[in-house]
Amino acid sequence: PNPPALHSFQSAELLVESLALFVVKAQKEAIDRKGRFTIALSGGSLPKMLKGLIDNPAVKWDLWQVFYADERVVPLDDPDSNHLLCSQELFSKVPIPKENIHAIDVSLLDDLEELSDAYEKELIREFAQKDAARFPVFDLILLGMGPDGHTASLFPGHPLLTEEDRWVAYIEDSPKPPPKRITFTYPVINHAARVAFVAAGAGKADMLSKVLDHPEEGLPSSRVRPVYPGQLYWFVDAQAAAKLELP
Ligand code: 6PG
Repeated sequence: PNPPALHSFQSAELLVESLALFVVKAQKEAIDRKGRFTIALSGGSLPKMLKGLIDNPAVKWDLWQVFYADERVVPLDDPDSNHLLCSQELFSKVPIPKENIHAIDVSLLDDLEELSDAYEKELIREFAQKDAARFPVFDLILLGMGPDGHTASLFPGHPLLTEEDRWVAYIEDSPKPPPKRITFTYPVINHAARVAFVAAGAGKADMLSKVLDHPEEGLPSSRVRPVYPGQLYWFVDAQAAAKLELP
């Protein structure tokens, strides 16, 4: 794989600005090539960092197809829902057609297996038949990194770290509440054209150094290594970057 491209900014504001430019560039490249832009979002602090896309005339919202890299298994109006968070921070403020946002099927909240299967089918519908495309190739997947090094809902030591087949899987034992979640697997994340982590604030500094300087520890965030020609990016602020050994 290509080495990760580290983009470090003096402030979170500059990071937000540059992230918006980056997303717009990825969007343009995708739309020029195939007339649509496939992107996956995460929860946590990420949605707020996308505010540079609001009122941005370069964003072609009607050509976006949005999925969630992970989602908590709760109703869509539950405060824990990543969809709710993304809607509050972004989608309610921009002209994106509702049908372009792929939320979980809440009629299946009681059956994790069915729920994750249904979300996998949603991906298959977008990315053609599973047989034709072994794995989907997202134009962009945006991820956060938790204080334990997790990303999406891929947690340290969890059996899902070695999943090689499924596109979407579920967990019932998330150490970060709520416990029930669905998540993209590594094969999906690592087949994307671009994967970008966004990490800001001093709270990320120790873990960022572990993940980037010591990938051999195999923390979940270190296992994100898009296959060539996919590219991994890190958008971080100075506080998060403070403990990196790399120049
Ligand atoms: C979730 C998120 C999760 C998040 C990381 C980082 O559903 O919990 O998708 O994977 O991105 O936990 O969260 P913070 O950005 O809030 O630290």
